[in-house]
Amino acid sequence: MTTQATKGHFISFEGIDGAGKSTHIDSLAQAFRAQGHVVTLTREPGGTPLAEQLRQMVLNDPMDAMTEALLVFAARRDHLQKVILPALARGEVLLCDRFTDATFAYQGAGRGFDWQTLLVLEEWVQGRAAQGESAGLGNPLQPNLTIWFDLPASVAAQRLSNARVPDRFESQPLAFFEQVAGGYAKRLAADPVRFTRVHADQTPEAVGRDVLQAVRDKGFLP
Ligand code: TYD
Repeated sequence: MTTQATKGHFISFEGIDGAGKSTHIDSLAQAFRAQGHVVTLTREPGGTPLAEQLRQMVLNDPMDAMTEALLVFAARRDHLQKVILPALARGEVLLCDRFTDATFAYQGAGRGFDWQTLLVLEEWVQGRAAQGESAGLGNPLQPNLTIWFDLPASVAAQRLSNARVPDRFESQPLAFFEQVAGGYAKRLAADPVRFTRVHADQTPEAVGRDVLQAVRDKGFLP
């Protein structure tokens, strides 16, 4: 069982590198603001000064999969405590470019780190104690909606080939991204109500329409 924020709207955006999340996140923020919502735009790993430092390490310094997993969860802990939970408590819309599903997809499915251990870390970092109760694991806090930009790895690779200098993930071979996509599919299967899968291999306009529709279907926008 998982917990979803009862105040505010917590929406995360996922997909392999090159899936094209960024412009759609910005447009969605505009759409929410136009309806009078206060929007916090943030990302993982990152979102606080400490978590942004950890991001630099994860994206650039050689390390094994367990170290990656521990660093992204450490960053997440700081981010939840200082940004996510306070924004949701104020009733804001929190748009997060990647969240824990990325850890399952990249460190779990991509790097081969143990899935069960990730579930334990998720309970530690997002469980009851992490949400402010005096003690306890279990019921990890999850976004109210996760939009998965699904795109064939070969198309994403083509898009990335014209991009800037690749980081440790972007420079991975095609097979890695196929595994990562498999990780997202597994997370979706485990929590189909939270997830909406958007086909990212369409025109930006069509993708934008699907993203907006996913948010409307949840009743977050008229
Ligand atoms: P990304 O979100 O694609 O940002 P940008 O658009 O600036 O490149 O990059 C973040 C990278 O971090 C991406 O390759 C996925 C990876 N990542 C993990 O490996 N584990 C995680 O838990 C998270 C949140 C991200």
